[in-house]
Amino acid sequence: MVLELDWHSLQKEAQSCRKCRLCETRRTVVFGEGDPAARLMFIGEGPGKTEDETGRPFVGRAGELLTRIIENGMGLSRSQVYIANIVKCRPTVEQKGFRDRPPDPEETAACSPYLLRQIELIRPEVIVTLGNPSTRFLLNTSLGITKLRGQWADFRGTPVMPTYHPSYVLRNGGEKSPLRRDVWEDIQKVMQKLGLPLPS
Ligand code: URA
Ligand code: SF4
Repeated sequence: MVLELDWHSLQKEAQSCRKCRLCETRRTVVFGEGDPAARLMFIGEGPGKTEDETGRPFVGRAGELLTRIIENGMGLSRSQVYIANIVKCRPTVEQKGFRDRPPDPEETAACSPYLLRQIELIRPEVIVTLGNPSTRFLLNTSLGITKLRGQWADFRGTPVMPTYHPSYVLRNGGEKSPLRRDVWEDIQKVMQKLGLPLPS
């Protein structure tokens, strides 16, 4: 059972996983990366094209924005946090490999034990959920991200800060999106909680 595996076995299990249909079209399993003892964990939806090609989370366009938030905004490096997704293989519309889509309920149910075990092993002090799917899953709600973002929530005793997904920010105004200010506000709350110095 995934539920009790140690870090190494969990990763190995995921790398050969065939528990949902996403395994049929994936190129790589994107397990997640960063510090397995990180204080801060980011959770997105699922791999996109670049992630599927490289086996690394958040390395495409949305990933560049997330990386800037971590590095320029928070003054951390990607290797100091942990970055994961709800599903480890890439979901696309009709699995044709063109348009990304959120994971469906079956895929989420099949894959979430990996994420839950990652959270259990990492035991982060704070979790940031990026966008609707990860926020709804962890907080067990059907409310939308616009309602939930910016307010502390709880996942089994761990504080959760929901914020907009970087892809959503990029789709809504790109680099100049007003949503970026909202994300920055949410991130500053996280920095405060972790005792990280805010930029003056
Ligand atoms: N979007 C996600 O939700 N996760 C990734 O890893 C990349 C893009
Ligand atoms: Fe397994 Fe998750 Fe990939 Fe589905 S998405 S095949 S459950 S690793």
